[in-house]
Amino acid sequence: MPETIVLTGASSGIGRATALILAGQADHLVLHGLGPESSVGAVRAAMRPGTTLTYLRADYEDLSEVDRLAAEIRAVTGSIDLLINNAARPGAPARTITAAGNEVTFQVNYLAPALLTTRLLDLVAGRVVNVASATHFSASLDLDDVEHGPHRYSPSAAYAYSKLALVTYTCWLAAHRPSPSIDVVSMHPGVIATGLLHAMFSITGDSPEHAAGNIRYVASLRDDNGTYYDERDPQAPNTQATDPLVQDRLHELTTVLTRGDARHVARPGVASKLDP
Ligand SMILES: NC(=O)c1ccc[n+]([C@@H]2O[C@H](COP(=O)([O-])OP(=O)(O)OC[C@H]3O[C@@H](n4cnc5c(N)ncnc54)[C@H](OP(=O)(O)O)[C@@H]3O)[C@@H](O)[C@H]2O)c1
Repeated sequence: MPETIVLTGASSGIGRATALILAGQADHLVLHGLGPESSVGAVRAAMRPGTTLTYLRADYEDLSEVDRLAAEIRAVTGSIDLLINNAARPGAPARTITAAGNEVTFQVNYLAPALLTTRLLDLVAGRVVNVASATHFSASLDLDDVEHGPHRYSPSAAYAYSKLALVTYTCWLAAHRPSPSIDVVSMHPGVIATGLLHAMFSITGDSPEHAAGNIRYVASLRDDNGTYYDERDPQAPNTQATDPLVQDRLHELTTVLTRGDARHVARPGVASKLDP
């Protein structure tokens, strides 16, 4: 059966390494990135004859680009066997609020993939894999002010917070999946030597190919709806993520925050919540 795979954040790091191994498997590989198309030149060269690679660019710092990306994906395929939300950024050096009123790390790493998934869900026939991070265990969501990130801002805290939102959303979506034939999971891909890791942590990591192997492994599993994986091992996520009340509240807020008409309305309370 033809396999259509959508993979975001394929223009560098783990995403590009994952795209390279999926190139031998997909009949239609739909790749998203922020950088130029040349970023995926090696992936194109690795595609099997008769298969298709589509490369689409979108900057998640602007949610209207996510809407456009979803429309462009819909224009090139009527069905998605596997959606891998991998694109992400490190925490910004200082708290930064986007034009839509959201802390930028929260928007890029959480709101944007949640919006993209919502826009594409009716096309998904198989599986959604959200690439999160083990850092999510260190975070705690503030559901009275979720879009402005952690109260005590640091780049790594903002990053962990965005990833906790993604794991929580994954659990919500797993519980509300449109069909029992779709599994929705999240995972920590490993500690991997990429620009993202080195922007926040002075540590070394495994190769992007190591993470790509983990992603392909998790992507190949079935009947594990709602599972969080640490590399290849199922693990209980942060307890906030599995709390149905937290999931429902986050989903409710996400619906509002990603609605087109709400994006450019300055919401009250921004200044009071920011660091002094
Ligand atoms: N590296 C680790 O140790 C580690 C650990 C846990 C989880 N993860 C997760 O693994 C995934 C891949 O990360 P990585 O380490 O491979 O990082 P990376 O090398 O920095 O790659 C991130 C990808 O996301 C894209 N991206 C960045 N900002 C974007 C934006 N504003 N809009 C749209 N796309 C954007 C990048 O595009 P460009 O390349 O074109 O800039 C790139 O394709 C992320 O979800 C990350 O959180 C990584």
